[in-house]
Order: sequence, then structure tokens, then C-alpha cells
Amino acid sequence: MSTATTGKGVLARAREIVHWEGALGLLRRGLRRALHPVLRVHRLLFFEMDLTQPIPKLEARVPLETRVASEEDLDAFEEALREFEVDAAGARQRLASGDLLTLAISRGTLVNVGWITFSSPYIDEIDAILDLRPGESCGYQAMTHPSWRGLGTQPVAALFRNECQRARGCTRHISWVVADNAANVHTQSVRGRRRTKAVWAFWVLGMRRPFLVGATREGSPSLIRPKEFPRPSA
Ligand SMILES: CC(C)(COP(=O)(O)OP(=O)(O)OC[C@H]1O[C@@H](n2cnc3c(N)ncnc32)[C@H](O)[C@@H]1OP(=O)(O)O)[C@@H](O)C(=O)NCCC(=O)NCCS
Repeated sequence: MSTATTGKGVLARAREIVHWEGALGLLRRGLRRALHPVLRVHRLLFFEMDLTQPIPKLEARVPLETRVASEEDLDAFEEALREFEVDAAGARQRLASGDLLTLAISRGTLVNVGWITFSSPYIDEIDAILDLRPGESCGYQAMTHPSWRGLGTQPVAALFRNECQRARGCTRHISWVVADNAANVHTQSVRGRRRTKAVWAFWVLGMRRPFLVGATREGSPSLIRPKEFPRPSA
């Protein structure tokens, strides 16, 4: 069971939200969760980074070793990865399909993980496919362990992922962030990312698919609605 789902984990997370987003932030998140079965509103911000330009150099406030996870790492870090909601079987499938998992380790402890994909991902919150163009790849599901947040780990790990993308011939990095994820939104520009699109998704009970605003095929990134719904692989 991950720390996020135990009683203690929920309490710790609530405290963390109050600390960083205030009581209003906790209220907003609680309300969103309570309304989830009948009303869902999402706003996603998209960012890109030109990988042909020099990648900024940043230092975390703890020693960090970053690397691409191997099959052996999935076994060695199986327990630790569960804390990041990464299960070994699912991770193996993703690695087999060509995605990369990166690990950031501080003196033997896994502190940050994140994925990179080179194939067009389906974004559940907005029911749209991010249609990758030649040279593009994107990051997804990055996470710093709750006990290690605020130490500059994510920016360093994210830039390492950019190095990996570039080493595989990519010229553009794309990512998206839920708009109210303040911890991740305000650090994007420091990492050399440029905001490109904002997409709203509205869904109320009874609607088959969410209504989208801003999910255009034109511009960067190119977003398209899948023909089938729900998607066979979803
Ligand atoms: C978003 C996230 C990856 C940032 O990781 P991180 O390693 O803490 O990143 P940083 O150290 O650069 O901190 C980023 C901001 O988080 C906030 N922060 C600092 N300490 C924090 C803590 N203990 N807890 C929560 N947020 C904290 C600060 O605003 C900080 O920015 P600042 O240093 O300019 O003040 C991390 O909060 C996380 O894993 N969140 C849950 C998963 C998630 O949202 N992933 C991103 C999906 S797009």
C-alpha cells in the first residue's frame, strides 16, 4: 500500500496541501474530489522546450545520482517504486513499449521518478491524444517522494530527462501540468520551458465525453480526439 492511501498518508498529504496551498487549497481539492462523480473540470497547461538549445544546469539541495531505469532496477527498487505508484509489472510493459523511466537517487534512497514517452500519449483528463510530431517526445508522471519535496530534485531530474530525450535524437520536449499544481507550474520557466496551450475540460454526469476548450490540432502540441470512446486500451 502506498503512503498516499494509508490513514497517516492522507493526513500528511492534507497537512502538506494546507502548508503550500493554504486552507482554501485544501477546500478546493476536497470539493473537487466530492463532486467528481457528477462534475469534473480540468485545466491543463502545456509546455515545450527546444532541445536544440543548451539545457540549463541546476543543482538540487541534496546529492543526486540520476539514471535511466533498467529491468534490474525494477526488481531492486520494487518496494520503493510502489511509494511512487509505479508497479513493476506495469512499468515492465511501458519499458517494453519504448518508454523510459528515470530514477533520481540520493545516497541510496529513491527520491524522484519520471517517465518519457516517444509515442503519442492519451491524456485521460481531457480525453485527447497528444499527437507527437517528428522530433517530439514528452514527459509524464514525474514525482518527488513527499519526504523529499522542496529540495530542487524535480527540476534536476526533469532536466536529466531532457538530456535523455536529446540523446535519442529528439528536438522538442513537451509536458503538461494540471493548472492548480502550483509546485510544478511556477518552476517551469526556470527549467527553460515555454507555455504553449491551456485546455479546459468540462464534464457533467450524463455526458458521454467531456466538452473541451482549447484542445486544437493546430499549434504546439497537436491535440486530437480519439474516434473511439472509451479507448480500447484505456
Ligand atoms: C511537483 C513536484 C514533482 C515538485 O517536486 P520537488 O522535487 O519538490 O520540486 P522543487 O523542489 O523544485 O519544489 C517545487 C516547489 O514545490 C513547493 N515545495 C517546496 N517544498 C515543498 C514540500 N515539502 N511539499 C510540497 N511542496 C513543496 C515550493 O513551492 C517549490 O518551489 P520553490 O522552491 O520555488 O519555492 C512534487 O511536488 C510532486 O511530486 N508532486 C506530486 C506529483 C506531481 O504533481 N507531479 C507532477 C505531475 S506534472
